Amino acid sequence: MVPSLLKAGAFAGLASSVLAQAPAKSFKCGSTDLGNGVHVPGAIPKNLDEPLQHRLAFAGSDGMTVSWSSFNKQDTPTVWYGTSPDKLDQHATSKLSSTYPTSRTYNSHVKLTGLKPNTQYYYKVTGTNGYEAAYLPTFKFKTARAPGDDSPLTVATFADLGLMGEDGLSTATGPFGGSAHATLEPGETNTIQSLLSLADTYEFSIHVGDIGYADYSLKEAVQGLFGTDNATTQPTRQDVANHYECMSEQFFDQMRPITAQKPWMVSPGNHEANCDNGGTTDERANITYTDDWCLPGQTNFTWFSEHFKMPSYESNGRGNFWYSFDNGMVHFISLTAETDLGEGLTGPIENSTNNQNGPFGAYPNEQVDWLQKDLAAVDRNVTPWVVASIHRPWITSVEPDGLGYPAWQQAFERTLWENEVDLIQHGHVHTTELFQPQYNGTLDERGLDNPRAPLILVNGAAGHYDGLDEFPSDKRINGTLYANDQEFTWGRLTFHNRTHMSYELIASRNSSVVETWTLRRAHGETDDGHGSRGKKWCGRLKC
Ligand SMILES: [Fe+2]
Repeated sequence: MVPSLLKAGAFAGLASSVLAQAPAKSFKCGSTDLGNGVHVPGAIPKNLDEPLQHRLAFAGSDGMTVSWSSFNKQDTPTVWYGTSPDKLDQHATSKLSSTYPTSRTYNSHVKLTGLKPNTQYYYKVTGTNGYEAAYLPTFKFKTARAPGDDSPLTVATFADLGLMGEDGLSTATGPFGGSAHATLEPGETNTIQSLLSLADTYEFSIHVGDIGYADYSLKEAVQGLFGTDNATTQPTRQDVANHYECMSEQFFDQMRPITAQKPWMVSPGNHEANCDNGGTTDERANITYTDDWCLPGQTNFTWFSEHFKMPSYESNGRGNFWYSFDNGMVHFISLTAETDLGEGLTGPIENSTNNQNGPFGAYPNEQVDWLQKDLAAVDRNVTPWVVASIHRPWITSVEPDGLGYPAWQQAFERTLWENEVDLIQHGHVHTTELFQPQYNGTLDERGLDNPRAPLILVNGAAGHYDGLDEFPSDKRINGTLYANDQEFTWGRLTFHNRTHMSYELIASRNSSVVETWTLRRAHGETDDGHGSRGKKWCGRLKC
């Protein structure tokens, strides 16, 4: 293992300190591919220009950003593309190939523009099928439907999806305090496998925060997942940095079969912030790790900002933190509940030890101002559906007596309601719950039949090392239509037409449909006088 690491250190100057120490025994990231056409997740490719971890994101209605990672910096990252696999007759380039302290890889981003809507394209990127690199197919993707295209659209949606396998979610946890609730059972498929097996049934993915859980390496070490000796369970800062990047690389490698071909639209969660999982305590050694433990590069959402390129430029948003995009009948919005909640409010992760997380806006109200402007500009005659993704929920039966009125609810809920947003989807809590449409705790009595208030979904049950959360009792918070803390799941949203949307809950273990709900929203197409933008209907809910 060590010779490979030394070899890697010789070519990546900034990463040499990271590579100087061998990862703990369970990690695969010290190994090097054999150059025989196969890439092992987490391993160093023999050809250091080999493109890894491809990931797509919509870039406006006629654009697509192709991102990937490589162990060498790319001077001019290039994507060759076309509408036929044997005729990649167009190309686009950029100068975006950057890294950050602690990373072994460089992240390249190239934006393709002027694409035809709802069209299949084929592409390859710099270094594809180079000498001794892993063999890759010519990947393909489909562009977004033009805004207003009312053909049915299906989207995969999930949150809190972490690394799978022996360094993440598996059938076992570490011996010192691993969760007993819901690890994988032998023979079950995990969520990544399920998403891949059904990839032909949806157009793209929405990941509502908590992506990969690289920050769990510290907790996993403390719990003895990587070895039970004191040196392993009490890792150095450098160990933590190494393991974080190793888990990140493995996760992206696991996701590539999906994300190279389906846009992966991500929102920020708390686990993207830094290296310490929000604070980790080793009760055996009486050590508490805070984000002081994180080396530069693993604070302030750096990993999240470097790896992804969401369409904030195209939507006047901010980084990967708040942005929007249209696809067919739907306007999708992504927000951050972690930081930037506006004047007088403090994001839940802005209270880190050294206040190392955000804010990201140029001024305190930038995100909430942007949300108001973005929603005001939506033409519901073009995109009748509006869906908002916010990682943290404000209702969950894990807290059956309620969360009070948390800052992120104060920041967003009223604006979303006033603008008649149809669906708010959350993660963070590792359960699945669907809530009757409601506003500030008042249930909309119409339920799923043309409510005025938004339908609220929590699906943080995609799975990571810690398994699932558990409801503390049989008590469910007011308005719960469905609650499940027993299985790993993801969801499939289908917008059938301008008035009907279904949510299918998929069991990751066998890709079966557990439940299906259908929401009707009139969107001004019926004569019952509400649901129509511009008609301020408040029903039984107070305006
Ligand atoms: Fe979270």
